[in-house]
Amino acid sequence: SAIFGERINSAGLDLTDPVAFPAMQTARDAFATTKWHATPLTAPLRKEAGTPVNMINPARHTDTIGSVTDATTDDVAAAIDAAVAANWSQTPVGIRTAALRTAADLYETHSAELFALLAREAGKSWADAIAEVREAVDFLRYYAEQAELLPLASARGPIAAISPWNFPLAIFTGQIAAALVAGNPVLAKPAPQTPLIAFRAVQLLHEAGIPADALQLLPGAGEVGNALTSNPAIAGVVFTGSLPTARRIDRAMATHLPATAPLVAETGGLNAMIVDSTALPEQAVRDIIASAFQSAGQRCSALRILYLQEDAAERTIEMLKGAMDELTLGDPWTLANDIGPVIDEPARAKIQAHIDTYVKAGKLIHHLKAPVGGTYVAPAVLKVNGIAEIAEEIFGPVLHIATFKADQIDAVIADINASGYGLTFGMHTRISSRVTAVSRAVRAGNIYINRNQIGAVVGSQPFGGEGLSGTGPKAGGPHYVQRFTTAPGPTDSA
Ligand code: NAD
Ligand code: ALA
Repeated sequence: SAIFGERINSAGLDLTDPVAFPAMQTARDAFATTKWHATPLTAPLRKEAGTPVNMINPARHTDTIGSVTDATTDDVAAAIDAAVAANWSQTPVGIRTAALRTAADLYETHSAELFALLAREAGKSWADAIAEVREAVDFLRYYAEQAELLPLASARGPIAAISPWNFPLAIFTGQIAAALVAGNPVLAKPAPQTPLIAFRAVQLLHEAGIPADALQLLPGAGEVGNALTSNPAIAGVVFTGSLPTARRIDRAMATHLPATAPLVAETGGLNAMIVDSTALPEQAVRDIIASAFQSAGQRCSALRILYLQEDAAERTIEMLKGAMDELTLGDPWTLANDIGPVIDEPARAKIQAHIDTYVKAGKLIHHLKAPVGGTYVAPAVLKVNGIAEIAEEIFGPVLHIATFKADQIDAVIADINASGYGLTFGMHTRISSRVTAVSRAVRAGNIYINRNQIGAVVGSQPFGGEGLSGTGPKAGGPHYVQRFTTAPGPTDSA
């Protein structure tokens, strides 16, 4: 159809393939001690003005993986001038889409290095790293196709793309690809925790034919982001990250940017799952583990609060504990490790303090042991009465469990909706009328039934939240590219 096109998602890599996987492992291992260096990439290229800072592997603190020199205020100003002068919007759309597709091919050719970076810079397991490269490749090809399927209105102008560390390749690339394919020059600011993979990605995008003035990289922390989102020459901002940062950006834009400049924001959530007593416990437990603990819980989509029907709670929790005890924690460079570190020491300290508070209050249900040598947090299960008790997103391997009685399902839904967030929601039940009723009543952008609630697939599961979780349009969906043009989109009247 016109919306779905002919494209198919990338194949990725099968971890059980006895030939392809070991070959990829060998190729990746060639980058076991590589030291990368990231700098601002402006057009024309400016001499590095800042001081390089070393980057270390969150899984193994003895492993220095390279260094980064952040962008200065002068770099930001120079990059914005170059973006304003760029003639990318005049480049025919066919050239733009071809560059994106070439970049997708280059990401695949260079996947061994990208896997190494994802493990050593972001602490990603093999499974997560493979899924991440796939998603990045799929975003490039999907947005290229979208730009061809729909008549594109005019580009908006320079777009600031501000991304988080938890999908340092996929989200970073997705934002850039959508804004670029619509004809906008992009100023990309990666998260300060993951500039090295962003730098390599921008190099590959340049190699694929995106001109240096159409895509510039400005590594740095929030000040660099703020310099971008407060500059009146910026025509729009695409942001993925936490809610407090989204609010700061919104205020900066309201003060400094033209009123027409859109903010496309994807933020966090307090994602819930309901498991009732008709659910298949083995399946529910497998999906709870994946949703809460895969990627060390560092996914915006991750399960934070599980509502268990009381009469099934005991057996489900026993099975959950047993399954958790089988998880292996450690350096994700090793295939056998299921769960790696959290991103850095401030993150570790914050998550651990949350767990410690619950332990002191006698609300610990289960806890594993954390390895040493990196910023590890042992997965924990904590008892709560309801979502209000959690208050803010705890971005790590922490699952909260509340129980409910058979006649309290409406109260559970009200509790979930009261958080104000609305990113993902999961449900395990064998009552089909309940699926329909609950899916209608729960406010969430992505709803998953009898499966895990992470890993939305580009093109088939457009991803984005409601309420405090995001502005829309959904990433990897048919309305996204249009938002980077001057065409009135579905969110313009909001
Ligand atoms: P964060 O909000 O701390 O940072 C995100 C980005 O914003 C970083 O690049 C940061 O440097 C930048 N930034 C910080 N202050 C800024 C300012 N004042 N102006 C402009 N930019 C600024 O988030 P994080 O810790 O990097 O990522 C984790 C968060 O991202 C979680 O809340 C998670 O739920 C959310 N997230 C959401 C989605 C989604 O699709 N909804 C996906 C991934 C992550
Ligand atoms: N798109 C990512 C997921 O669904 C964040 O887990």
